[in-house]
Amino acid sequence: MKIFRNIIIIILTVFIVNANAQITNGKMNAFVNNLMSKMTLDEKIGQLNLVTPGSDIPTGSVVSKGVEDNIRKGNVGGMFGVIGVDKIKNAQTLAIKESRLHIPLIFGSDVIHGYKTTFPIPLALSCSWDMNLIEKSARVAATEASADGLCWVFSPMVDIARDPRWGRIAEGAGEDAYLGSQVSKAMVNGYQNNNNFDNTSVMACVKHFALYGASEAGRDYNTVDMSKVKMYNDYLPPYKAAVEAGAGSVMSSFNEIDGIPATGNKWLLTDLLRKQWKFNGLVVSDYTAVNEMIAHGMGDLQTVSALALKAGMDMDMVGEGFLTTIKKSLKEGKITQQDINISCRRILEAKYKLGLFDDPYKFLNVARASKEVLSSDKKNIAKELAEHSFVLLKNDHQILPLQQHGTVALVGPLANDKKNMLGTWSVSGNSDFAIPVIDGIKNIAGNNVNIIYAKGANISDDADFIKHVNVFGEEITVDKKSPETLLQEAVEAANKSDVVVAVVGEAADMTGESASRSDIGLPASQQKLIEALSKTGKPLVLVVMAGRPLTIEKEVASASSVLFTWHCGQEAGNAIADVLFGKYNPSGKLSITFPKSVGQIPIYYNHKNTGRPWDGIEAPKFKSDYLDISNEPLFPFGFGLSYTNFSYGKINLNNTTVKSKEKLEIKVTVTNTGNFDGEEVVQLYVRDLVGSITRPVKELKGFQKIFLKKGQSKEVYFTISANDLKFYNSNLNYVFEPGTYKFFIGSNSTTINEADCIFQ
Ligand code: NOJ
Repeated sequence: MKIFRNIIIIILTVFIVNANAQITNGKMNAFVNNLMSKMTLDEKIGQLNLVTPGSDIPTGSVVSKGVEDNIRKGNVGGMFGVIGVDKIKNAQTLAIKESRLHIPLIFGSDVIHGYKTTFPIPLALSCSWDMNLIEKSARVAATEASADGLCWVFSPMVDIARDPRWGRIAEGAGEDAYLGSQVSKAMVNGYQNNNNFDNTSVMACVKHFALYGASEAGRDYNTVDMSKVKMYNDYLPPYKAAVEAGAGSVMSSFNEIDGIPATGNKWLLTDLLRKQWKFNGLVVSDYTAVNEMIAHGMGDLQTVSALALKAGMDMDMVGEGFLTTIKKSLKEGKITQQDINISCRRILEAKYKLGLFDDPYKFLNVARASKEVLSSDKKNIAKELAEHSFVLLKNDHQILPLQQHGTVALVGPLANDKKNMLGTWSVSGNSDFAIPVIDGIKNIAGNNVNIIYAKGANISDDADFIKHVNVFGEEITVDKKSPETLLQEAVEAANKSDVVVAVVGEAADMTGESASRSDIGLPASQQKLIEALSKTGKPLVLVVMAGRPLTIEKEVASASSVLFTWHCGQEAGNAIADVLFGKYNPSGKLSITFPKSVGQIPIYYNHKNTGRPWDGIEAPKFKSDYLDISNEPLFPFGFGLSYTNFSYGKINLNNTTVKSKEKLEIKVTVTNTGNFDGEEVVQLYVRDLVGSITRPVKELKGFQKIFLKKGQSKEVYFTISANDLKFYNSNLNYVFEPGTYKFFIGSNSTTINEADCIFQ
């Protein structure tokens, strides 16, 4: 009876939700139809134009002359790169008061990891494996950004990346499609407030569609070439997850796919995105990506603009190819009125859904901005997010957590640094507000700990490299003292100490856009510093800040403990001090494999077995391995230590044979066997032993982050159905194939705790 009643309630709810959606869509259609009936061709083309006032943002007037004029003429659909309520209000007022049809502008920005309150870089956040926290990061960023006048964020960036040379690996969630999809959903839900478009919600823009993370040789903007099977199974799922979560917009990528740049790729933007995935929001190009198709070799500006529009591109970012050539293409019959109407409609619909036609000033409330922007509760969240993102890679003899007494030698080029704490893509963040590690330690340890500080080394001493990195400001400063003096001071400090904490790593702009590196080790200056410190014989703790995995095998070997903190945002110093002194027990797990050397790249846990797999034992000949290095990574996907230890019991399956309609219940007992309370990410992997196409040696299928008090045990349950075991076969059908599956549960991707089940 109860079940029957519940079914009726569910059916009614679905009916009501659908009916409401239809009414809303009906209203929206009527509104947009009416508006479009009044629009001239030029005004429609104007909506497809997204502009940025560029370098005028921080100092000059809101909009440059050209932009102001274009807004008046109805030649602009939206703007980005304008920061602050006053400036945005000026631009909106111009559109509302002085353009013929008073159509509001949409205002976007690169809100990538926080807005003004800056959180850890996305790669770091993904290492928390905590979807509630990740959603919270997006929710808080949306609240702050929307209070400051924005309604559209160019995030989440969900490009799967398996090549840490690529600088933009910092902006995504790592190498795995399953984890990446969870993060993608959480971010969209956070930004769009579960599609409840109130004035704290912003429209998400999932990017970069698609496959940008697979640029050859890890070089930015480079060619991508990939089989469809790999694309569907390993690279597309996080974009699809964002679309399914309701992302309002999608940004095309710079790279080509099957020989056609994504920005003009009809298969990608229409057949896959709209027809297969049913995406009905707007597609925006990346920065001048339409124009860049000229350099790709696709034709002149008129040709590539028509190509993009016909492929399904709605909004042209900055390049003005649409604005200047589309009309000509229409006259020449290269595109149709319908092509323009469709794109214009999608942009107007986005504005409608955001509520801008009801109130163009919905996001422009000075009182709200002054309450929300950089508020103290957001700082606490920034600290919490940072602490949960750190990955403890090594902790011999339990050197960490540090005691709150004695003498600490605090050394390294990033130990007393503010500029590099925020990391890449923090366009609205202000590093003046960042907490350096030295201040964080003083805040926590106060007078109980004697701190001797020495810089020890510059981030790099290589003048050409420094010039390349310092394009946006002096992130790598070269000390007045010689490298020898810096080193000597650090060694002297170490000799006087009980423990050495060396804060080393990358400058913020050593990752991010156009920041690929062929050598992903620590720069030579820092390698020398670590070598000298380890020779002192003092316990050495490395705190490594970076935007990518680093090849630091030697440095890890010479240290007692290694805490990888990534670039962790404005609360860096406080969060790092909390973890060093045990106020928070680290719980992060790598969302990306760390190679031992660049020669192993691409290296990722869910690789194929090959016909001659390396078995982990010495291989004399004819195995898939190297002569000079093992296949093993420095640190595997999913890896991360805690100050406590967790032990795993045997995997318990409710059945060893499961019919396709049934569910497999998997149980494991996890025990905290150490001396600290702590969190553990319990990871479930599967291996499909025989398939119609070759299958990965392991695939992540589930995870749970649990908290256990010391001595406590917990039973952790996973449920797997045939649906969870599906993959894209060689015909690109999403299929389940009966057979034997191996399930693994443990604390990282190398776990051998396994059990078999036959799925029929
Ligand atoms: C180029 C970047 O690729 C993209 O991620 C960003 O959103 C746009 N520029 C706008 O700044």
